[in-house]
Amino acid sequence: MRAADISGDLSRILVTEEEITAKLDEIAAQVAADYEGKDLLLVGVLKGAVMVMADFARALPVLAPMDWMAVSSYGAGTRSSGVVQIRKDLDTDLHDKHVLIVEDIIDSGLTLSWLLENFASRGAASVEVFALLRKPEAAKVHVDCRYVGFDIPTEFVVGYGLDYAEQYRNLRDVAILAPHVYS
Ligand code: XMP
Ligand code: MG
Repeated sequence: MRAADISGDLSRILVTEEEITAKLDEIAAQVAADYEGKDLLLVGVLKGAVMVMADFARALPVLAPMDWMAVSSYGAGTRSSGVVQIRKDLDTDLHDKHVLIVEDIIDSGLTLSWLLENFASRGAASVEVFALLRKPEAAKVHVDCRYVGFDIPTEFVVGYGLDYAEQYRNLRDVAILAPHVYS
């Protein structure tokens, strides 16, 4: 779905599909160089990271298995509760793996800081984070994020995997949701 198909629901496009593609190529090259000779495992956080994982994994010029974790910290609203629930755990033993967590967005940082702590106890050789989007002004806790696609303003955004009440994930771009949709 393109932004023009639902323009009444969106305030503004923040990152276009083309900008995302170019950024993923750039970060994929960097990751391939940084992980040369290492046993890399990509861990996607469902469901928001599905699009970024699919495109990023294919942009990588090296083999990289994928695993998935489903956590939830939001419910149907637009604010993080800070309470993280595991809905689906990994299938992979992290022991001696170099884990790169692939995330759609860092907002308060609560979800990722919880995940990092959780993964640290599973014996991974290293754990790093790639987040396509980050809201620097919304941070409640600091998260060491090695790869960031785009820093964006503190607005609720949808598209490219990001949802509001499960809608808008299949929008190609990342856009600010018009307040009339959720207020
Ligand atoms: P925290 O606040 O824990 O949030 O860093 C992480 C998760 O919350 C979701 N999230 C959003 N989803 N538009 C969305 O559709 C947003 O603006 C937004 N901000 C946070 C997302 O799933 C992320 O992984
Ligand atoms: Mg997410």
